[in-house]
Amino acid sequence: MKPKITITREVFDDTIDYLKQHCEVDANQADQAYSPEALAARLAGQDGLMCALTDKVDSTLLARCPTLKAVANIAVGYNNIDVPACTARGIQVTNTPGVLDDSTADLAWALMLATARRVTEVEAYIRKGEWTGWKLKQWLGVDVHHATLGIIGMGRIGQAIARRAFGFDMKVIYYNRKRVAADIEQRVNARYVNFDELLAQSDFIVLQVPYSSATHHLIGARELAKMKPSAVLINSTRGGVVDDAALITALKAGTIRAAGLDVYENEPKLNPGFLALNNVVLVPHIGSSTEATRRAMAMTAAKNLVAALTGAVPPNLVRV
Ligand code: GLV
Repeated sequence: MKPKITITREVFDDTIDYLKQHCEVDANQADQAYSPEALAARLAGQDGLMCALTDKVDSTLLARCPTLKAVANIAVGYNNIDVPACTARGIQVTNTPGVLDDSTADLAWALMLATARRVTEVEAYIRKGEWTGWKLKQWLGVDVHHATLGIIGMGRIGQAIARRAFGFDMKVIYYNRKRVAADIEQRVNARYVNFDELLAQSDFIVLQVPYSSATHHLIGARELAKMKPSAVLINSTRGGVVDDAALITALKAGTIRAAGLDVYENEPKLNPGFLALNNVVLVPHIGSSTEATRRAMAMTAAKNLVAALTGAVPPNLVRV
């Protein structure tokens, strides 16, 4: 008998075709996020769950799903899943590392360039029909080239962001919980500094740490106050790593110059304070959202799930 699985959100047809070769598939192609109650009901008698970061897999859900054996997240981050609770119940958890590094790094760069050169602000101005002609001092931005880039979190995505800085002749510094190996530092041309040094020296600060209780509000009022008034902050990792209310206060006061954000606390309900500010570029959690990458993420999750349910070791097993 094939294992039974539930997919919580719309995925690509080829992902479903692949899963159907190995499993009985309950797919939610209508793409309406399930409430916790609806998800628990759908998981009755199911062996596997393929979910997204919008689904909360916590001990309350797990207690209602005694047949569940594997959870495959279509994301590299898995802060939506209580991994210790899954492990305690013998449920395997997987994620999708690697396949999204370059696309997410590209988006972090898009936010850096857009904030530095005020791309969304001037686009709104042009669309309103307010442009009357060229002026020397119009819409002055700041240079990305030759600036100092500070990366907080030098994992695979942090490294991909650093590699791109080479073409912009940037000086790259980084902070990571653990200093990375010398050959990686050399390859990405980045110098390790302590956290406060990074805050004080960087022209652009990019956050690329996973979200956890240890990184909750890693950037708050204290850290913002240590940045240069000309600094630009990019959050391309997870909401909650930044204290959004403190960031809004800093952006309003000019404590820092600007911010580029892909992720928010309590998304999709972002703090309305952001909407009133011109010096912030806002995009809706699209870091990995290219067609090729999202297809690769869905297929990676599918392969992890099939492996977990057919007695193989899933390639991307999350261990606690
Ligand atoms: C996206 O945010 C991911 O964690 O993959």
